Amino acid sequence: MQTVSSVLDSISDVGRDATRGGYSRGVFTSPELSLREWFSTEATARGLSVETDRNGILWAWWDATDSRDGALVTGSHLDSVPGGGAFDGPLGVASALVAVDLLRERGVRPNRSLAVTVFPEEEGSRFGVSCLGSRLLTGTLDPDRVRALTDADGTTFADAARAAGLDPTHLGRDEQAIRRIGDFVELHVEQGRGLIDLDAAVAIGSTMLGHGRWRLSITGQGNHAGTTLMADRADPMIAAAQVVLAARKIAAEQDGARATVGRLQPVPGGTNVIASRVDLWLDVRHEEDAVTASLIERIHGQAQKICAFEGCRATLTEESRSGTVHFDGALQRTLGLALGRSFPGTPTLPTGAGHDAGILGTVAPTAMLFVRNPTGISHSPEEFVERDDADAGATALADVLEDLL
Ligand code: GLV
Ligand code: MN
Ligand code: MN
Ligand code: MN
Repeated sequence: MQTVSSVLDSISDVGRDATRGGYSRGVFTSPELSLREWFSTEATARGLSVETDRNGILWAWWDATDSRDGALVTGSHLDSVPGGGAFDGPLGVASALVAVDLLRERGVRPNRSLAVTVFPEEEGSRFGVSCLGSRLLTGTLDPDRVRALTDADGTTFADAARAAGLDPTHLGRDEQAIRRIGDFVELHVEQGRGLIDLDAAVAIGSTMLGHGRWRLSITGQGNHAGTTLMADRADPMIAAAQVVLAARKIAAEQDGARATVGRLQPVPGGTNVIASRVDLWLDVRHEEDAVTASLIERIHGQAQKICAFEGCRATLTEESRSGTVHFDGALQRTLGLALGRSFPGTPTLPTGAGHDAGILGTVAPTAMLFVRNPTGISHSPEEFVERDDADAGATALADVLEDLL
């Protein structure tokens, strides 16, 4: 039987990013498409039957009865942030495949069907909206808006989906998929220091921090870097720099808040050109949704003041938002009991990251398992999981699935 690490080793060359380091596996780009192929091959080799739904979610079925309704579903994603680590997403997929092996080895006879799933565009790295697949499934996104989303090269989601073999006219709320998800459990690499501090390999997820993304477009006057006197400029980059600092200050003054500008795009983007526009993306998170709303309002207000002073204009557009999620209490208790045999005293941990399990909580009970990351770093090539911990995670997932099946 394969270990989780040996499964992950088989994809360790896919989507390596020589420039950024780590992996860049944007949804429906060739690395992510080859990972989807790889998943289908691995699942088929395990006797699972693979299908792609209307939103591009892959489902690998272990059919136990003649109905797939109310199935137990586990899985994660294979897309990455630009220059991301090897585990964010793929660990949950590889662990689910190994958990199927373990269940078979234990001779488990499921009372309901089990599906291993792969969700597209969890990171929102290519088209801007995180958890795009699960949001489409649950009907919280307008399919027309999704079809029109563009990537950095101007390719629409509709075209990218078509090139990946999907029919983009079929995107949207999926009643069949909703009926099929009886319970959803996602295993994920821990993305902070929680498990290091607790000295444990595995934890049960308690909450997922509310978060949102906004694009702030700052328009000024494009001009020549040599001929334009400093006093004569309306430089949106100068405004953007102050907005970045204002966002940090506003978040730092609010207990538990996080605000990040991780992406900023000057247009047209020339060394000797004063930009005509700067787009910057704000990621703001807080456990109270009203506080997240007030943080973004304050940052926007500050941006308006800064822009007025700099002779620029700012327009704010919300790209996605999700409230804080409390994972299903009964399912958390079931996980605790299932883990009691091999992992007594498994701790619970909140997460500051976003996950499809959070989005799917509106249509079914959902839960998460986190596996220790000894660097405490994620969305970076330094993200890591020790081999023994990866195997512990797959065993924990198998224990949980066995109890739930
Ligand atoms: C995704 O991992 C996110 O939390 O943004
Ligand atoms: Mn993830
Ligand atoms: Mn991530
Ligand atoms: Mn995530």
